Amino acid sequence: MNRLRAKLQRLFHRHSYKVEVDGRACVLVPQGSTILRALIKAGVKYPHSCCMGDCGSCKSVLLTGMVQTSGYLESALSEAEAESGIFLPCSSKPLSDCKIAFGRKLNEALQGIQQCHADRPGLSKPDGE
Ligand code: FES
Repeated sequence: MNRLRAKLQRLFHRHSYKVEVDGRACVLVPQGSTILRALIKAGVKYPHSCCMGDCGSCKSVLLTGMVQTSGYLESALSEAEAESGIFLPCSSKPLSDCKIAFGRKLNEALQGIQQCHADRPGLSKPDGE
């Protein structure tokens, strides 16, 4: 019983989550930190510019895990993108261990959204076309 209690306490009082970037890098993100801030602090080269959810440069795909995203502009991340698992690491804090990616996997996810809108003419394209 004490072992179970100790395990539950460890789970609920975690102070950091492991974030793996496309199998290339793995960082511990301290509680309260954004994923991008922890990546930069760890020296991981990651696309970014504004660091505050305004530009979309850090747009990424969440492959596994959960994040809490807030405080970004819809011009940086559309609703369709957010619903497809795309997120902004500069405006997101992990809620669990995560695997994320940018580059090829992000492009595949973005193409999937465009294809979905092309297949359903009643929907407007995410870029407003
Ligand atoms: S760095 Fe600009 S939106 Fe993330």
